[in-house]
Amino acid sequence: MRLSTGIAGLDAILGGGIPKGYVVAVIGSYGTGKTTLGIHFIYEGLKRGESGVIISFDEDEESVMRNAKSVGMDLEKFENFEIMRLEAIEVRKSFERIESDLPEMVKSINASRVLIDSISVLETLFNESERYRILSSLRKTLKSVGITAIVTSEADKFLPTASKYGLLEYVCDGMICLKMIRKSELEEPTLGLEVVKMRGVKHSRKPKPYMITERGIVVYEEAEIL
Ligand SMILES: Nc1ncnc2c1ncn2[C@@H]1O[C@H](COP(=O)(O)OP(=O)(O)OP(=O)(O)O)[C@@H](O)[C@H]1O
Ligand SMILES: [Mg+2]
Repeated sequence: MRLSTGIAGLDAILGGGIPKGYVVAVIGSYGTGKTTLGIHFIYEGLKRGESGVIISFDEDEESVMRNAKSVGMDLEKFENFEIMRLEAIEVRKSFERIESDLPEMVKSINASRVLIDSISVLETLFNESERYRILSSLRKTLKSVGITAIVTSEADKFLPTASKYGLLEYVCDGMICLKMIRKSELEEPTLGLEVVKMRGVKHSRKPKPYMITERGIVVYEEAEIL
């Protein structure tokens, strides 16, 4: 079974959406639309009567709602979601809270979709082995509660199709990369979406143009980046 991302062009690239139960990473540099893509995924579920949990490191509840509204998604219309606000400065504690509180939260509203936005805070505190430990235990938690998840993170500064610390791609079942492509300093950059991996799914790897509008993200899956 597939879960629609709420973005028609992305669903088309994926052949219907994200496979149920997957943990999918969405990576990109600042302002490429990672949060917006994640909110689309939750919002699409809400519209279909599925509950969702948004775990936010970057923003408080109010600004999550406000930003969602600015891209055409009015979360206030719905009640079947929860926002778990976590402190970026207390990274270790925050990840422990996901482990301890998420299963309960998911159960209480019968959630089927989870967004974690964003886990970039991880790199600030841990060494490589600790990061890996935390990421794999996060994966275990997400897998054990029977939901489908999107986890956002920053991309590597020099390699846009890799996550900043190069671990996320291994613990996730799929990865979608959002890129800002600059041909020259004077031109407006083109935004390109690339499905880097999606286990068990036949998909194109060609970056497809997309735009962020007041109605959210639009992916032009039939178009090419020139
Ligand atoms: N209504 C709108 N119309 C057009 N573009 C918009 C609109 N609202 C937001 N944007 C663009 O989308 C960007 C924000 O998208 P989003 O917050 O999803 O990106 P992000 O990758 O999560 O960024 P960050 O790295 O800061 O978390 C804004 O910086 C702006 O360029
Ligand atoms: Mg964001």
